[in-house]
Amino acid sequence: MIPIITIDGPSGTGKGTIAKRLAQKLRWSLLDSGALYRVAALAALRQRIPLDAAEALVERLRALPFPLKGDQVWLDGEDVSQEIRQEAIGTAASQIAALPEVRQALLDWQRQAAQPPGLVADGRDMGTLVFPHALLKIFLTASLEERAKRRLKQLKEKGFDDSLAGILQEIGARDLQDQSRLIAPLRPATDALVIDTTHLDVDEVFLQVYEAAVQRLSEKIHRRP
Ligand code: DC
Repeated sequence: MIPIITIDGPSGTGKGTIAKRLAQKLRWSLLDSGALYRVAALAALRQRIPLDAAEALVERLRALPFPLKGDQVWLDGEDVSQEIRQEAIGTAASQIAALPEVRQALLDWQRQAAQPPGLVADGRDMGTLVFPHALLKIFLTASLEERAKRRLKQLKEKGFDDSLAGILQEIGARDLQDQSRLIAPLRPATDALVIDTTHLDVDEVFLQVYEAAVQRLSEKIHRRP
């Protein structure tokens, strides 16, 4: 069994940063599942496919090669790693993510990412649905205001010119959409370690996650016959 650590939570909790650091530290692969939803949304927007047209969206998705190459995200032969980070693409991604057909179509790509020696997977339903037998499940939370501030900082660093009020509104609406959808709603797995990161910096969060990972891995080794 390939060991998998899942890191779920709403946007702006720092799960992407923590997942990347953990994967680097363990020398495991990394799956940014949100990037798959974002690239699917961009593919739809580019071809003017309505964001509720499940069948057309799935057809477009099935024609795409696996879009993640290391840290980069590719679509139609173009590196779209930066473009997909726009808040508008996040909102469109959340819209198509409510469609069961789209989630199903993205499942194979996500499961394919589980390769030895291990995988760190970040998203919304990694621990609940995609990898229910994961070795360790983490769920990161933080207050909406804190998450909006972090997201704004991230977007500014990438050269996007968003306002705090706009981000607050967008991620608030996106959370609601992700939490209230009928399929795979955003919620912690019952066996997840939930960490509220509102008053923690990234090093403090990483330490808690890393310690939990080391402990779980050593338990796994000692359990071996
Ligand atoms: O993590 P992110 O902000 O890049 O994700 C963008 C959207 O994609 C998010 O609002 C909901 C959707 N998503 C999902 O439904 N399930 C996942 N595992 C990852 C992302």
